[in-house]
Amino acid sequence: MNNKPVWIRRASQLVTLAGGSAAPVTGKRMNELGIIENGSLWIENGRIEMVGTDEELQAAYKGRAHEAEVIDASGKLVTPGLVDPHTHLVHAGSRQNEFNMRLNGATYMEIMNNGGGIHATTAATRAADHATLFAESKKRLDQFLLHGVTTVEAKSGYGLTLEDEIKQLEVAQQLDQAHPIDIVSTFMGAHAVPREYKHDPDAFVELVIRKMLPEVARRKLAEFNDVFCERGVFTPEQSRRILEAGVEYGLKAKIHADEIEPYEGAELAASIGAVSADHLLRASDKGIQMMAEAGVIGVLLPGTAFFLMAESANGRKMIDAGMAVAISTDCNPGSSPTVSTPLIMNLGCLKMGMTPAEVLTAATINAAHAISRGGQIGSLEQGKQGDVTIFDVPDYMTLQYRYGINHVHTVVKKGITVVKEGRLA
Ligand code: NIG
Ligand code: FE
Repeated sequence: MNNKPVWIRRASQLVTLAGGSAAPVTGKRMNELGIIENGSLWIENGRIEMVGTDEELQAAYKGRAHEAEVIDASGKLVTPGLVDPHTHLVHAGSRQNEFNMRLNGATYMEIMNNGGGIHATTAATRAADHATLFAESKKRLDQFLLHGVTTVEAKSGYGLTLEDEIKQLEVAQQLDQAHPIDIVSTFMGAHAVPREYKHDPDAFVELVIRKMLPEVARRKLAEFNDVFCERGVFTPEQSRRILEAGVEYGLKAKIHADEIEPYEGAELAASIGAVSADHLLRASDKGIQMMAEAGVIGVLLPGTAFFLMAESANGRKMIDAGMAVAISTDCNPGSSPTVSTPLIMNLGCLKMGMTPAEVLTAATINAAHAISRGGQIGSLEQGKQGDVTIFDVPDYMTLQYRYGINHVHTVVKKGITVVKEGRLA
């Protein structure tokens, strides 16, 4: 345990994202990054104590420089540690065979309806024990860290029995304890109707509501409740029931909405006051307007659209309509097997018409709000957690311009250097 203060100095750009802790950042304000040139930052006891120019911090800490681990960030970009607010981190197995099938003409839903897709990963995850799930998921977490990510949300949803859903959530909790990355857990028992309930999906909805939700809440294994609202999976009516039941048990609502087909998922999210609606590739104009008015955060997943070879969500339209937009990998073995949140920012620019400033806001402070952590992480401000990523590029525009490259140089998590010169420390 490194208890030394950390002093990051002389950043060519220090992007603070200051001022958005109380509420998600919407509309034109998503372009305001709060940049400090020749920036400097002092972290002590895991928290940010001061942010300013290097001259200001030199004046404040001159007498204590010898106590600190000094990180020279000259020529580099310093940002808040990236936040990934939508992952299916804990799962077993891999589906490269389905990738090949899709490239030979099969669709994602056809594969799922024939017993592959989510069902294939469910079979693998049910068969895996805690230790196997832990080991496979830890590898992904290490890779997230190497890509500058310091907090992730993680969903269950590949168990689909009470026992196996709890197993996934327990592994997420163990990883949260064992790994530098913080994990925020979401219960997603309504990720698919398992094969054994194929002929009676309503009975499965009852199982989720009457058995799974109460037990997950009782064991305090999740903070959010999510459902895959999609034609052929859960209807808007079933989704509403499941999400409202979750709220009764203290689980906040998230929703996989309008991913493959328009299905009024955005409208549902707005009408129940969900914290976020995610995907939104096919969200209607009315749904976008309703989300903007209700303050539902749109978590956009352009890597999923890219990997499914579908048209991306219209991030540009959503921001212009006044919505708060966050972005995420959707890391999962079927529709987005990546851990590169920086690549997702690149795709946010190239496929959704977002600016380099907007995608950075979307992957930091708005991503933090999408998991109810806007007060603790997502910006570099006094009192916030000492989570910082340093990229080996001179400015935030270059981070998007030199796309598809991992520019991460250093990652500091709660005041401890966990990535040094691009390697796990
Ligand atoms: O967010 N859409 C549903 N769930 C995931 C994919 C899960 C899978 O294919 O394993 C998603 O895209
Ligand atoms: Fe997802």
